[in-house]
Amino acid sequence: MSKELHFFQQSFNGTLTVPGDKSMSHRAIIFGALAEGTTTIENFLIGEDCLSTIKAFQKMGVEIIRTDTTITINGKGIKQLHEPLEPIDFGNSGTTARLLLGILSGLPFHTVLVGDPSLSKRPMDRVTIPLKQMGSKTDGREEGKYLPMSIRGGHLKPITYTLPVNSAQVKSAILLAGLLTEGETTVVEPVQTRDHTERMIGAFGAVINKEGKNISISGKQKLSGANVVIPGDISSAAFFIAGATFVPNSKLTIQDVGLNPTRTGLIDVLKQMGASIITTITDQLGDEPVGTVEVETSSLSGIHISGSIIPRIIDEIPLIALCATQAEGITEIRDAKELRFKETDRIKAIVEVLSKLGANITELEDGLMIKGKTNLVGNEVPSFGDHRIGMMAAIASFITSTPVSIDDTACINISYPTFFQDLNSVSKRQ
Ligand code: S3P
Repeated sequence: MSKELHFFQQSFNGTLTVPGDKSMSHRAIIFGALAEGTTTIENFLIGEDCLSTIKAFQKMGVEIIRTDTTITINGKGIKQLHEPLEPIDFGNSGTTARLLLGILSGLPFHTVLVGDPSLSKRPMDRVTIPLKQMGSKTDGREEGKYLPMSIRGGHLKPITYTLPVNSAQVKSAILLAGLLTEGETTVVEPVQTRDHTERMIGAFGAVINKEGKNISISGKQKLSGANVVIPGDISSAAFFIAGATFVPNSKLTIQDVGLNPTRTGLIDVLKQMGASIITTITDQLGDEPVGTVEVETSSLSGIHISGSIIPRIIDEIPLIALCATQAEGITEIRDAKELRFKETDRIKAIVEVLSKLGANITELEDGLMIKGKTNLVGNEVPSFGDHRIGMMAAIASFITSTPVSIDDTACINISYPTFFQDLNSVSKRQ
């Protein structure tokens, strides 16, 4: 269903808290389902992706109860997981697919895995290649590369694996398989990616060791049920943080948001572009720093972005591109080919949407080049069924003098079902 948006001459003002972090919500369900004893998760993200993770474990016999944003898991340990009677549908969720492939590799049964048309085009061999080295038997479309897939898990052997792509999903899939394997499994991570798996496992009574670039897990550690409180998702807060840097007369505070340094690259990039942003760590939830982000309208300048910062901004690049249209000079983003393997080819999607809105933007093989500053204009744009592209277009409508019409906004429910409520709550007439 298409949606016409027009927030022209409104600014971002006030205080906001955003829903729970998507990456952490997935991991809390996974650890709770593998643990013995009761796990409670507070401020869980009720997004479609995280619900896919819940449904997957329910199909394997785990009792998971949801009351609003609180989840209770009556965990009975790994032995309780059984062969699902039906295929498991991961929907749109790459994180569910990759992380569960890791777990299913170590479980002695057969599972059929399916996903929606977007997920069925995303490469799974990045996880099945190392998992096969550990002994997992998988097959799928196009030589085992894509969903639908089948997997027969069982006895695995530990490996040491250097990540060929900078992906927390691949790292986590191998570590989770390692948890179900006798011996020590090591992932060598040339560039640091988000580390929620490593941080959260401690709450469940197990450890993952990090020494330089080597991340190791000893197999057969027992997990015990835990109480987990999920901080606000910095990748959801990002839409408001980015918007408030360039929408005139904005002054916004976001509270109780996760400030794990592997996730805060957007703030570093925007500050380098000239944005006025203050972050304050106010709390620690488990092993995760949490705090406040204060942001005001500023003059932005183009910068060059590449290298090790890319995994720290990977989900926020659509927003950085939007900010770059409002920055003086050239912004160049390189080393970001991974964007082509997200919910859609995000390099192409960003170029198409922002070009339709009047931006001067060029597609590069591994990134983008944007020349600013340009006045954006309203138009009809596709979201490509990609939540983050849809939300980027919605933020753009704050600076277009005519409306932005987005063909499909239902996809926003994947990560941020209350996005439009939150947008309305902080948008004020200038
Ligand atoms: C995620 C890791 C990232 C990110 C995705 C969530 C995770 O993917 O884009 O939204 O929870 O581990 P990659 O690991 O493939 O880069």
